[in-house]
Amino acid sequence: MTRTTTAPFLQALRGQNGGTPPVWLMRQAGRYLPAYRRLRERYTFLELCKTPELVAAVTTMPIDVLGVDAAILFADILLLAEPLGFSLRFDDGTGPSLSPTLQSAADVDGLPNDPAAVNAAFDYMKAAIAELKCTLQVPLVGFAAAPFTLATYLIEGGTGRDFKRTKQWLFSDPDSFHRLLQRLTDYTVAYLQLQIRAGVDAIQLFDSWAHVLAPEHFAACSARYLAAIRRALPKDIPVIFFCRGTGAYLNEIAAAAPNAVSADWTTEIRQLRAGLPAGIALQGNLDPAWLYAPPVELAAAARSLLSQMAGDPAYVFSLGHGVLPDVSVDAVRLLVDTVKSGATAAVI
Ligand code: CP3
Repeated sequence: MTRTTTAPFLQALRGQNGGTPPVWLMRQAGRYLPAYRRLRERYTFLELCKTPELVAAVTTMPIDVLGVDAAILFADILLLAEPLGFSLRFDDGTGPSLSPTLQSAADVDGLPNDPAAVNAAFDYMKAAIAELKCTLQVPLVGFAAAPFTLATYLIEGGTGRDFKRTKQWLFSDPDSFHRLLQRLTDYTVAYLQLQIRAGVDAIQLFDSWAHVLAPEHFAACSARYLAAIRRALPKDIPVIFFCRGTGAYLNEIAAAAPNAVSADWTTEIRQLRAGLPAGIALQGNLDPAWLYAPPVELAAAARSLLSQMAGDPAYVFSLGHGVLPDVSVDAVRLLVDTVKSGATAAVI
């Protein structure tokens, strides 16, 4: 297996991109694509995730439809809950649900403690990655949740609202809360190592719920474990941290030593760039809701971001969070075309 190193996306992650910024989007493979919706009429989401040929087909869709510069493996951050002993459901319209939920320190201490077992649980993922590496012309991004975000799902049983149970636990029994984060860190390292062995070119960690933490808790519950994951992975694999609340936690994120920071849209990109040490690439950070705007406004917003980052060799154009399921394909295509044609191109 050979890894691409000259692709613009990987060059930008190393701070060595000389051309227009590469572009890819979180949730670029999903329900806004008619071809994806057609597959979902025949298969459940989990069936798609667990069938290597379907994973390869869905992962490739946005490359063919949009011409983006990177592919992200079609999977979900919650798949890792299965080898930890949870059953996972995605019922239409209600979001993910997990059972049982974690309730006590005893539940944490009763979790499986055999990270090497993830290898056998993800044969389907290894096969999908191997297939993609034979066919894809762009780098492939593997991913996992940050331990804090995964912990919220295991404790709340689904997508949290106020994260009451998670925070109550953190404030009343921090020792067992940290034992949980450490166990999830060990499993996440094993999970990402198997993706890397199978051939992914870069890793992104999603801390989608980081923004509900006060900064001191972000440092203790998120950044500390993200740093441990980065240290455990091979140095030559670029690792991107996406933490919602990017601006508020920038120093803590940078101290955890990612190769790149993927930023949400609540802080101006120039301010983020100024706050990051040299050597850390920046990805982001257009508000995904721009995809609902009139085309002229959408293109203008993209060009504004591009002009702010013009000439930055360590910049990857992206959204500040995932593509929403009901945007039009034309809008997403216009966005990608605007980036690819350079900051000065006229809108047609
Ligand atoms: O294109 C890609 O980005 C690759 C695949 C991907 C999915 N989920 C596919 C998916 C990735 C990277 C994720 C990560 C993920 N999953 C996150 C972190 C990113 C973020 O958005 O903050 C989170 C929090 C999850 C958990 C999750 N999975 C939620 C909240 C949902 C939405 C439920 C719903 O009904 O919309 C999912 C389901 C999911 N994951 C879908 C897709 C394409 C929709 C499934 C469907 O077809 O119905």
